[in-house]
Amino acid sequence: MTDYQTLAGQAEGMLEAEPWYVAAFSNISSLIMDTLPDLNWAGFYLMRDGRLTVGPFQGKPACIHIAPGKGVCGTAAFRDETVTVPDVHQFPGHIACDSASESEIVIPVHENGRVRAVLDIDSPVKDRFSPEDRAGLEALVRKIEGKVSWA
Ligand code: SME
Repeated sequence: MTDYQTLAGQAEGMLEAEPWYVAAFSNISSLIMDTLPDLNWAGFYLMRDGRLTVGPFQGKPACIHIAPGKGVCGTAAFRDETVTVPDVHQFPGHIACDSASESEIVIPVHENGRVRAVLDIDSPVKDRFSPEDRAGLEALVRKIEGKVSWA
């Protein structure tokens, strides 16, 4: 099982070294990809001009823009809640960037209470993300929100 406390501590250290979101999200994407088993994509989409635009990530090249309410990322951003998808083939409107993806979790990231980005993680394994993963990743995002600089 993933030690989310250690992961959050490492992310906190990165944010303290450099809070600028480009640097921090690049290293945090890498940290997630390197720490969690069975992932094929981990990264951030940023809210920009009313839609999500791909930001720092690890994995195959991804779709660049996602409209609010579209796909898993747009749904999580629009509803402002974590969306866990055990089987992406069963999620209406799922956007397939990497055909290897079987399950996915998306967590909104806030600036001053408003959705500013989402953390998107894909796995080639069905039902990869447990309630413990969700809780650990949400705690990580809360830590990021408290330390990141958006400019
Ligand atoms: N599957 C996502 C699109 C982004 S990729 O997974 C990196 C979605 O449905 O929003």
